[in-house]
Amino acid sequence: MANFLYFYFMEIKLRQENKDDFESVFRLIEKAFEKEEFSDHKEQFLVERLRKSDAFISELSIVAEIENKIVGHILFTKLEVKNESQIFHSLALAPVSILPEFQGKGIGGKLILHGHETAKSLGYKSVILLGHQDYYPRFGYELCEKYNIKMPFDVPSENCMVIALEKDALKEVSGEVVYPKAFFE
Ligand SMILES: CC(C)(COP(=O)(O)OP(=O)(O)OC[C@H]1O[C@@H](n2cnc3c(N)ncnc32)[C@H](O)[C@@H]1OP(=O)(O)O)[C@@H](O)C(=O)NCCC(=O)NCCS
Repeated sequence: MANFLYFYFMEIKLRQENKDDFESVFRLIEKAFEKEEFSDHKEQFLVERLRKSDAFISELSIVAEIENKIVGHILFTKLEVKNESQIFHSLALAPVSILPEFQGKGIGGKLILHGHETAKSLGYKSVILLGHQDYYPRFGYELCEKYNIKMPFDVPSENCMVIALEKDALKEVSGEVVYPKAFFE
């Protein structure tokens, strides 16, 4: 009961990550993915590489804090969707990480929605991700295959998702996703 009340009244602050957070965020990601079956347990290193890459957008590396403790983190980085004649600019959502003891309390959802709003304010029109088919559709994600957007590797189509951040943003979009190089290093 005490636990329930604590989470009911806790104030969650979402803000841009800064360099003093890097170490806490590294440990947080490590812990969040520790027991995840479909993980290489190296997501914390991916975030370190992405921060140093051209794909990084500082406003879209966001932390969730409770009483000055960082309990969640989300990162959106630049990616492209390319076909024979066009290049579309979009974002990759990866990863989103919540400390195990704070999971299932809506913090991941808050970070995703806040990230969408920030991305929109920066002029981005869509987000693409690889993730669990039961989690992301609640935020409006749809299958990439609906838009003829293809991943550059073999993954189940149910895990490849995209969201339009504004109406008709995906109307003209089709092609293959080009992830930043940092994803494959
Ligand atoms: C996945 C994750 C970000 C979700 O954040 P969260 O704050 O725990 O989730 P929320 O409270 O916003 O949402 C809870 C819902 O998500 C579902 N959920 C949580 N983790 C899930 C997962 N890995 N796969 C599918 N659904 C998941 C819960 O079952 C719950 O569903 P319900 O509302 O139908 O009961 C978080 O659990 C986490 O950090 N997990 C470990 C790392 C990871 O797998 N990250 C995602 C891949 S990039």
